[in-house]
Amino acid sequence: MFIDVGPDDLMEGELRGLEVGERLILLTRLNGQIAAMDDSCNHAGCLLSGGWIHEKKSAVVCPCHEYAFELGTGRNVTFPKLCEDQRAFEVRIENGRVMIRIEEP
Ligand code: FES
Repeated sequence: MFIDVGPDDLMEGELRGLEVGERLILLTRLNGQIAAMDDSCNHAGCLLSGGWIHEKKSAVVCPCHEYAFELGTGRNVTFPKLCEDQRAFEVRIENGRVMIRIEEP
């Protein structure tokens, strides 16, 4: 199911943390493309929205221990890979709104 999480007015390079129900969601925009993933890092829970974008890796870097997660897939692109991939969400833009797909288990 796709959920409306707000306007698609992110600036290039922006990291935006949102509360969506009980979830913390990170929205980013890189090269015009909006991506969404869990904001709470699976390593130790820091908020990725407090981190930064690594353009070359096309990834967000966690501010706490600097693991990097690829935008769009959430893949952990850090070596050595000491934590899991981050959960990423499919994004669709509709009428100026960001819609993300959240499948509940
Ligand atoms: S909490 Fe994110 S890298 Fe450790």
